Amino acid sequence: MPKLNEHYQDLKESYLFAEIAHRVAAYEAEHPDAKIIRLGIGDVTLPLGDLAIKGLHEGVDAMASAETFKGYGPEQGYSFLRDAISAYYARNGVSVDTADIFISDGAKSDTGNISELFDTDNVILIPDPVYPVYVDSNIMNGKNVTYLSGNAENNFLPMPDPSVHADIIYLCSPNNPTGAVYNKEQLKEWVDYALANEAVILFDSAYEAFISDPELPRSIYAIEGAKKCAIEFCSLSKTAGFTGTRCGYCVVPRELVFTASNGQEMSLHAMWNRRQSTKFNGTSYIIQKGAAAVFTEEGMAQCRENIAYYQENARIIADTLKRRNIRFFGGVHSPYIWFECPDGMESWEFFDYLLNNAQVVGTPGAGFGENGKNYFRLTSFNNHENTIAAMKRFEHLF
Ligand code: MLT
Repeated sequence: MPKLNEHYQDLKESYLFAEIAHRVAAYEAEHPDAKIIRLGIGDVTLPLGDLAIKGLHEGVDAMASAETFKGYGPEQGYSFLRDAISAYYARNGVSVDTADIFISDGAKSDTGNISELFDTDNVILIPDPVYPVYVDSNIMNGKNVTYLSGNAENNFLPMPDPSVHADIIYLCSPNNPTGAVYNKEQLKEWVDYALANEAVILFDSAYEAFISDPELPRSIYAIEGAKKCAIEFCSLSKTAGFTGTRCGYCVVPRELVFTASNGQEMSLHAMWNRRQSTKFNGTSYIIQKGAAAVFTEEGMAQCRENIAYYQENARIIADTLKRRNIRFFGGVHSPYIWFECPDGMESWEFFDYLLNNAQVVGTPGAGFGENGKNYFRLTSFNNHENTIAAMKRFEHLF
């Protein structure tokens, strides 16, 4: 009989968004005529920009003739895409070397897989509330997690406690689910703390393209010293509508070198390269062609149009909550609006209440951590018509 990884017993029975899908499907089966509006999972609805589509087509065409056909690609990703990402960073005022960039199928895989590089004997800080993948992937590997409390008092932006040592710190800014964004001074505090503790920051910037204030950092590498202590994860899912197309990247600076217990120096860059080249055969050439088109100035301009559309939805949601005097966070530099459940309800209770009475699907805050149990998240990724209709139903209820 195989001995199983019993750490899976420590996980909740199903992943948050799988549980939501399950409850919505059950409701739909019972109410086949209900017009359900989905503002739950952060899945985009607008089609890809023309340039991304053109890039994808070029990728497909290349596969049709022997001269241009591509087989296995470089595990780290094609240099045409890594160069385009490095140039994108440069346009945003941040220097990231092409050699440090790894292409993947998305930030979910990378933020989940990175935990393999670290021993179980580490102090791992993870914000609560936050994207559940960080916690679940560590639990799967039998690791203990220490929570960093995000709450209304600290605007859901927990800061380091210099009296507490950490080895690994997960940060997500703009935050999923709260939409809170660290400013440069706050991120500098985290970088200084990480350097002082010889810790590594795992920085998820999947929502950076939603930041509209040029003073707010869109990358941890906007902060001096970050290359000595931080890995950054990013994705085209929310930036360019690639949730179904799948492409992401992470930056593992070659400066990240630590001393192992046997005294040998170990480079996180080299370890990640070893991990990826062993377990991953690269993102498809076709997808990388589409992704490279996204990172041109014109391609990014098309992405910004779509993001502006979603930001308008966020404004519609926020305006409704303001009119109803419901306290909320986010919705400006983020596609997510995070609010207190009305009438003191708990988040799963509110989820059922909203589904049953307004046929609107959101995400219960409890799915993002203990501190979310009285909060609820709505996304701005649906279309205008549905967002307006959902908010009318919402206003009618409260
Ligand atoms: C979310 O709704 O939190 C995200 O869409 C999940 C993800 O990006 O995997």
